[in-house]
Amino acid sequence: MIFYFSSTGNCRYVAETIAKETSDEAVSMLDCLQRRKLEFPDCNVLGIVTPTYAWGLPDIAAVFLRHVRIRSRYTFFIATYGTTPGNTAYFAQKNLGRELDAKFSLKMPDNFTP
Ligand SMILES: Cc1cc2nc3c(=O)[nH]c(=O)nc-3n(C[C@H](O)[C@H](O)[C@H](O)COP(=O)(O)O)c2cc1C
Repeated sequence: MIFYFSSTGNCRYVAETIAKETSDEAVSMLDCLQRRKLEFPDCNVLGIVTPTYAWGLPDIAAVFLRHVRIRSRYTFFIATYGTTPGNTAYFAQKNLGRELDAKFSLKMPDNFTP
């Protein structure tokens, strides 16, 4: 399962592209939080895709990772970013409460407009 948060579509595109290539499923973190669906006992590969916000995690991604109960054999993390990815994977690990097996940064169109 590949969980994503996306405000303008970059992370959704990344999550759905990987899901298609790996016959997996892309799932919105926001939908899970709104439906209070936070238990996923059977997950072989866990993917997390989130934008970088202020060199860290968006609040929604942090809240989701803190509350989700998920078992997986392999966990990969992708932070999309516009200019500088910062320390997003570190915060993902802290909120998830365990080590990530693989961490990637992926440059995408920057939606930080100021
Ligand atoms: C509030 C805000 C803060 C951001 N902070 C950063 C940042 O610190 N570093 C960076 O490289 N990009 C930053 N960005 C750009 C996004 O991380 C980037 O465009 C991302 O791909 C957007 O993904 P999305 O379309 O799935 O929401 C920020 C964007 C927003 C809206």
